[in-house]
Amino acid sequence: MRNLLTLCFAALCLPVLTAAHAEPRIVGGRSATPGSMPWLVAVADAKPPAKPLYDRQFCGGALIADNWVLTAAHCVEGTRPESLQVVAQIYDLTKDSGQVSAVRRKIMHPNYNRFSMNADIALLELATPLDAIPIPVLQQNLALTGQWLSIAGWGSIDKAGNNYAEQLRETEVPIVSNATCQRAYGRLDKITGNMLCAGFKEGGRDSCQGDSGGPALVEINGRWLLAGVVSFGEGCARANYYGIYTRVSRFAAFLHEYVDFDGNRLADVNQDGRVNAADAIDKNQALQDEFDAWLEDCWKTRSDCGDVDGDKNIDWRDVLRRNQYMDGLWQAWTTEYWQPLRD
Ligand code: ARG
Repeated sequence: MRNLLTLCFAALCLPVLTAAHAEPRIVGGRSATPGSMPWLVAVADAKPPAKPLYDRQFCGGALIADNWVLTAAHCVEGTRPESLQVVAQIYDLTKDSGQVSAVRRKIMHPNYNRFSMNADIALLELATPLDAIPIPVLQQNLALTGQWLSIAGWGSIDKAGNNYAEQLRETEVPIVSNATCQRAYGRLDKITGNMLCAGFKEGGRDSCQGDSGGPALVEINGRWLLAGVVSFGEGCARANYYGIYTRVSRFAAFLHEYVDFDGNRLADVNQDGRVNAADAIDKNQALQDEFDAWLEDCWKTRSDCGDVDGDKNIDWRDVLRRNQYMDGLWQAWTTEYWQPLRD
């Protein structure tokens, strides 16, 4: 099946023929739209750099500021920051080059426990701030039971946990109460207040091996907020078990110790103390300028940075891909920062 889509970013609109993906992945999910989750990053081994990203990626993460990634503690336990790499603006792990940053500092939550999986949360401070849109963090402790949790990642697409996706997958799962989750797990695991569970009683849809550390989002008052970090589960998508996520709101104080994530600052582009249409105009112009600069400096000069899709060919596909990402940044900025704060 093929779909005809028209993609527009600022003044540039391009019609594209895309293959429609119907087959379920993540486990029981679907293919994500490239550029639609600009806060989602791949956490990978830095070495050997020659190895394809597909073979080096082992976890997901979320940008909560331009130089801070939130991930699971179990993902980065026992690793040194020098051995880690964070890659943003990736859709296809086998093709996209993305934006790469080394990790300057790794901060494990002091209460993380690898046996109980309590406080499975860690921060990575990036050496190079990334040009991507951070996701705002849910800082209120809400029960969230019954709400949809939106998850995404390059993790296993089958329940056995050994068939890894090349392209980003996403799905939604309903949040269940911690009491329901504890009943399901019985003596197997203690579900603490620092955890959040989601899934269907009958199973079928879930995060899985390789999705760990990735963001789980809830929609509150029309805004998407980071509420969970993929942590663990008994198998994947199994009936009578749920996926378990780190309950991010419980760690607001820990995050504030290190990260300054002020959504207002990001919305007030011209720094006049008000969030209004003038900020949207400036933001759009800034993205347009960035795109133009890329065309001039990377694409027209046929430099490495012009090869966005990593196929060693600098052609119209790279313009299209770069345009898609810019559009993703714009969409995310308007919905995550500007819109809710409009005066
Ligand atoms: N611990 C796994 C990882 O390291 C993630 C497991 C998530 N499992 C689940 N059933 N939701 O990738």
